[in-house]
Amino acid sequence: MKLIRSPFFYVGDKFKLLPQLLDNFPKDINIFIEPFCGGGSVFLNTNAREYLLNDIDYYMISLHKYISSFCNNKEDFFRNLIGIINKYKLSASFIGQLTPCEYKERFKKTYYAEYNKNCYYRMRDDFNNDKNNLILLYLLLIYGFNRMLRFNSKGEFNLPVGNVDFNYNVKNALDDYLNSLETKKVCFYNHDFETFICDINYNEDDFIYLDPPYLISSCEYNKMWNINHEERLLNLLDDLNNKNVRFAISNVIYHRNNHNDIFEEWSKKYNVVNIKSNYINYHDNTEKNSVEVLVKNYN
Ligand SMILES: C[S@@+](CC[C@H](N)C(=O)[O-])C[C@H]1O[C@@H](n2cnc3c(N)ncnc32)[C@H](O)[C@@H]1O
Repeated sequence: MKLIRSPFFYVGDKFKLLPQLLDNFPKDINIFIEPFCGGGSVFLNTNAREYLLNDIDYYMISLHKYISSFCNNKEDFFRNLIGIINKYKLSASFIGQLTPCEYKERFKKTYYAEYNKNCYYRMRDDFNNDKNNLILLYLLLIYGFNRMLRFNSKGEFNLPVGNVDFNYNVKNALDDYLNSLETKKVCFYNHDFETFICDINYNEDDFIYLDPPYLISSCEYNKMWNINHEERLLNLLDDLNNKNVRFAISNVIYHRNNHNDIFEEWSKKYNVVNIKSNYINYHDNTEKNSVEVLVKNYN
């Protein structure tokens, strides 16, 4: 099966681990429920009759809603996108707008960033003056450093320009996303996980997959996650288990000398599957500096 890459290129997404995760998912899913859907790598590659997708990140969910609204109108979407790329005079290899040779010669490793930076900062100012302009936000994500959604304390998008381009990988990911959303029945929500999980009436063939922030690894969205969140989530999962709702949760039990004792202790009640993660220690591949798991309450 061809795996679909999310067009949000979300930091910490589950794309590389998908084959192992999907192998462990139930085969018959009525409603697929994701309280921490992020860029959507997992739901895009899961078969179900319906999808309930949530994330606390307002702009991430707004982008999902905005881009998926074009799934029956892809030509308009790409026409708008190209119109804005041309308006700001950004480079875009997917439409043959390449960085001029003199930039490539002068800035051998940073020519995309050097060429696009003035246009990018103009686009960033325009978005910060009108935060409903989601197509600008998507382009800021694509041309931004490490492709992240990052806002300062005043609520302004503040990611610097990246050394990247709108290339065929982005175009293909958008095509795949729009085609997939055309066939899926999805609903997006923007709540804290507890409100989202508690608002659903579950049936026995529904399935919840959870990929929460990890207590012991560093990432922009992990900074807000603390022991209270972790305990609140694990208690909720015990409640769901008592109601015979199927779930599987990803987590990291050990990472760079940090141990998540709370999660490890809790997981002993369920089926723990070891996942081969990306964080192999290349100096000594017999020893991993991270232990990633998928914990399921079914066989
Ligand atoms: C590890 S990421 C999920 C990545 C996703 N599986 C993917 O493949 O793109 C964790 C997500 O949890 C979200 N999050 C953090 N705190 C949350 C909360 N209290 N309720 C719901 N979502 C939350 C973050 O915004 C982030 O998108």
